[in-house]
Amino acid sequence: MNIFSLEDFSILEINNILDLAEEFKNGKKVDYNGKKIIANLFFEPSTRTHYSFDTAALRLGCKTLNFDSVNSSLKKGESLYDTVKTFESFGSDALVIRATENEYYKNFSGKINIPILNAGDGTGNHPSQSLLDLLTIRQEFGKFDGLKIAIVGDIKHSRVAHSNIKVMRRLGMEVFVSGPEEYREDEYDFVPLDEIIDKVDIIMLLRIQHERHESLMKLSCDEYNKLYGLNLERVNKMKPNAIIMHPAPFNRNVELTDDTVECDKSRIFKQIENGVFVRMALINMALENK
Ligand code: NCD
Repeated sequence: MNIFSLEDFSILEINNILDLAEEFKNGKKVDYNGKKIIANLFFEPSTRTHYSFDTAALRLGCKTLNFDSVNSSLKKGESLYDTVKTFESFGSDALVIRATENEYYKNFSGKINIPILNAGDGTGNHPSQSLLDLLTIRQEFGKFDGLKIAIVGDIKHSRVAHSNIKVMRRLGMEVFVSGPEEYREDEYDFVPLDEIIDKVDIIMLLRIQHERHESLMKLSCDEYNKLYGLNLERVNKMKPNAIIMHPAPFNRNVELTDDTVECDKSRIFKQIENGVFVRMALINMALENK
């Protein structure tokens, strides 16, 4: 079983993954006794996703290989495919891959014969992030249908936004999209944050993806926060039970002010905790359905 995009999974299957993640959270034990090897191949920088997959694999009793892209043969011109094929040839049991190209996995079809878990492809998809976001939302509200979420920031360059907008709409959530004009996409109606701040159940902030931009952002950090970011003034307008999410890494005092990062409404570190359980579920499923 591969996990490329949540579009390949039904709503029932998505809920089943979340149920398994919840079981791991509640202490379910699976131990591969060091007999399985998970290779983490990150061709883009990562802290959370990489080490969350690594932690998940270790908790399942797997061994892990952590590819160091900086000191690898990529520097000698080796391609992504050849690197991936190499780790398959080592005898890895599953591959966790993050790469800069959208849908990099399309080139692997029929050629790589072990499960691939997509840890983010360019601006395309980030299924494990969406699943941990969904788990966090389900734990909070016990449902998806009818919930209102505002996804705010650099929509155009965000695989988190692209994955989440699609799956959340399928789950019956009302998704509002907001942020600077230059990062908008025609297919989504944009609304000013102040119009929806008091109506939504969830505010999900996104980092400005500077590394994917051709030109520098024109706004200062302070200006960005005043126009599009979260600060105590806006937090005070949120519904009493509404929550704040961010996939991280966050830039303090840009997407959200320092004093809101760990405020009562913030679930940012809860998302990170849930990430390990979701990835335990994904690795477990990948190893069992080979
Ligand atoms: C996100 C990513 O890499 O897409 N981070 C993550 O996986 N938690 C978001 C980002 O880099 O801004």
